[in-house]
Amino acid sequence: MEFVSSRLNVLKVKADVLVIGIFKGQRYSGALKTIDGSLAGALKNISEEERFEGDVGKSLMLSSTFGKIGSKRVLMVGLGEKAEFSANTLRKIGSLVINKVKSLSSVVAFSSEFSASPGYISALTQGLLLGSYDFNKYKSGNSDSNKVERVVFVSNRVKESTLKEETNFAGVVSESVNLARDLVNEPPMYLTPSKLAEVASQVAREAGIDCEIFDYAEIEKRGMNGLMAVSSGSEEPPRFIHLTYKPPRKARRSIAVVGKGITFDSGGLCLKPPDSMRTMKMDMGGSAVVLGVMKAIAVLRPSVTVHGLIAASENMTGAKAYKPDDVIRAYNGKTIEVINTDAEGRIVLSDALSYAVELKVDEIVDLATLTGACMVGLGSYTAGVMGNSQKLIDKIREASDCVGEKTWQLPMDDELRAEIKSNVADIKNVGSRMGGAITAAMFLENFVADVPWAHIDIAGPAFMEKDSSFSPKGGTGFGVRTIIKYITGK
Ligand code: BES
Ligand code: ZN
Ligand code: ZN
Repeated sequence: MEFVSSRLNVLKVKADVLVIGIFKGQRYSGALKTIDGSLAGALKNISEEERFEGDVGKSLMLSSTFGKIGSKRVLMVGLGEKAEFSANTLRKIGSLVINKVKSLSSVVAFSSEFSASPGYISALTQGLLLGSYDFNKYKSGNSDSNKVERVVFVSNRVKESTLKEETNFAGVVSESVNLARDLVNEPPMYLTPSKLAEVASQVAREAGIDCEIFDYAEIEKRGMNGLMAVSSGSEEPPRFIHLTYKPPRKARRSIAVVGKGITFDSGGLCLKPPDSMRTMKMDMGGSAVVLGVMKAIAVLRPSVTVHGLIAASENMTGAKAYKPDDVIRAYNGKTIEVINTDAEGRIVLSDALSYAVELKVDEIVDLATLTGACMVGLGSYTAGVMGNSQKLIDKIREASDCVGEKTWQLPMDDELRAEIKSNVADIKNVGSRMGGAITAAMFLENFVADVPWAHIDIAGPAFMEKDSSFSPKGGTGFGVRTIIKYITGK
C-alpha cells in the first residue's frame, strides 16, 4: 500500500472510493454539504433511508456517483460521538474501511477529517494494515485478497513530512504485529522451538541486531533445568533465544522483554482434555510479541538497550516427560516442586527471568499466555498485569491504554503467596484454583530478584476465536504495540 496526500478539492480527487467520516448527529455543512450538493442530496437521502447516524462501526456505501464527482463511489463511515473520538477509534475505522473496500478498489481517498490531528494518519494507517491481515498460506485457490494499492489523504493541512513519518511508523508497527500474528497462526508441526529460533535469527539478521541461540547441549550445560524438564517429554529439542538491540549512542536505560515460547502445550502428563488442547499452538504468543518488538525496535532505534529473551519448548507426554512430584533446580538455584505439568509456562520462564537478572537490566517485562484463570477473571479481551514495581506496572498500563490494548492490574496478595509454598522444595508450581493468575505471577516473582518487573498475562487476548476490532480471528499480536509504545514513547 502506498500513502500519499493530495491538496485537490475533495470533489476532484479521482479514487475508486472516497471515504467520508461522519460524526454522530453531524449537520450537513462544510465539505460534506458541498459533496452532497454535487450528488443532488444522495448522501443525505440514503443516510435517512438506511438510518445511518454516524455510529462507530457503521458505514454506508453509495455505489455510484454517476460521474458527478471525481471518485466513483462514496463510503460514509461513522466516527461516533465527537467528544469520544480518538486515534484508537480511527484504528478500528481503518480496519472497517479496508474490509469494505478491499475487493473493489485500488485507490481509496480519505476526506480531511481523517488527518485533522497528529497521530490520526498513523492510527488510520495501522487500521488499514492490521485490518487487512489474512493468514491464507495453507488455503488453496484464490482468497479475497486486498487490492488497495494507493491511499490518498485529501487535506491541505497535512505536510508531506508528517504523512511520511506517520505512515512509515504505522508500517513498521503493523509489520511487527503481523509477524507476531503469523507466528501464532502457524501450525505447531511447522513452528517448533527450533523453527522459532530460526525465525529469531532471521529477524535479527535482517534487523542488524545480535542473536544468540542456545541449543539442547548449551541449555543443559548452563543449568536451565526448567526448560530441560518441560521439554523432556518431546522429541523436539528446546531452544533459548537471546536477541540484543544496542542503541547507536549511549543507552539511557536497559530492559529485558521475556516471552513464553511453548510452541504446543498438550498439558504434558497432566494432559489437557481435547477441547482445551485445541488452539494451544498459541502458547508461544509471548515469544511472538518479543520477536515483533525486536523487529520494530531495530528500525525505530530508541536510546534504550533492549534484550529479547525467549524460552522455547513443547510440552508433551513422551516417555521421558517430567512428572508431578518431580523437583527441578531452576537456573537461579531455587528448587521447584512440580504439582501439575500443565503449569509449564512459569517453569520455563523461571530460567528466562533468572537469565534476565544476570544481564543487569534496569527492568524486566514478561509476556506469557500463562493462565486460563486470567481469562476467567478478566475475559478474553483484557490482559492481566502484575509485578513487583507499581511504577513500572503503571507505565505499562499507561502505554497499553494509549495504544488501545486493554490491560488491567491484578493484586499481588500476600495472603495468597502461602499457596505456592512447598513441603519438599523452595516453591511449588501450582496453588489452589482460586486466584490462579496471581499465584502464577507470584511464582515468577521468585526469579526476578529485586529488578523492577512487570508480568503481562496475555492468555485471553493473544488469540481470538472470532474477528475483533482490527484483528481477524486467530493470533492478534496483542502486546507488540504496548511494548513498542512503552520502550520508544511513540
Ligand atoms: N497455556 C496454558 C494457559 C492458557 C489457557 C492459555 C487457555 C490460553 C488459553 C497454561 O500452560 C496452563 O495450562 N495453565 C493452567 C495452569 C493450571 C494447571 C494451574 C491453566 O490455566 O489451567
Ligand atoms: Zn499448560
Ligand atoms: Zn501453557
